[in-house]
Amino acid sequence: MKTTAFITLIATFLAAPIAAHAAGPGDAVAGQEKAQTCAACHGADGNSENPIYPIIAGQYRDYLVQALRDYRSGARNNAIMRGFATALSDEDILDLSAYFAQQESVLKTPDPE
Ligand code: HEC
Repeated sequence: MKTTAFITLIATFLAAPIAAHAAGPGDAVAGQEKAQTCAACHGADGNSENPIYPIIAGQYRDYLVQALRDYRSGARNNAIMRGFATALSDEDILDLSAYFAQQESVLKTPDPE
């Protein structure tokens, strides 16, 4: 019985940082607030309805962070996104990425038929 309790305790301590890591840095609630600027093109939840604007809902968080940093630095060159990304702080980028990564994408796995 004691051993079981001990194992449970250890497992709890081991699992906590893993869970925290999976969520990643960035505050999705703050991100939702900041995402109002992006909604006109990407849609409120990142599911753009216009094919000229990419759907960013459900995209990997790290991909979004990298894309926004690259637009900001100019490593990825797009006049429209550069304008928006230069206004973003590192924290904004993390918050926005956390938010959009958590949204469900309308994109479906292609039907093999
Ligand atoms: C005026 C329209 C417009 C607004 C507003 C806008 N974007 Fe974009 N966004 C675009 C376009 C167009 C692209 C495609 C650019 C390219 O080809 O690299 C893009 C691309 C992106 C990408 C890369 C997607 C991919 O699949 O690689 C991300 C991430 C992104 N935008 C995030 C944002 C965020 C976050 C905001 C708000 C701070 C925002 N955008 C605001 C038009 C916009």
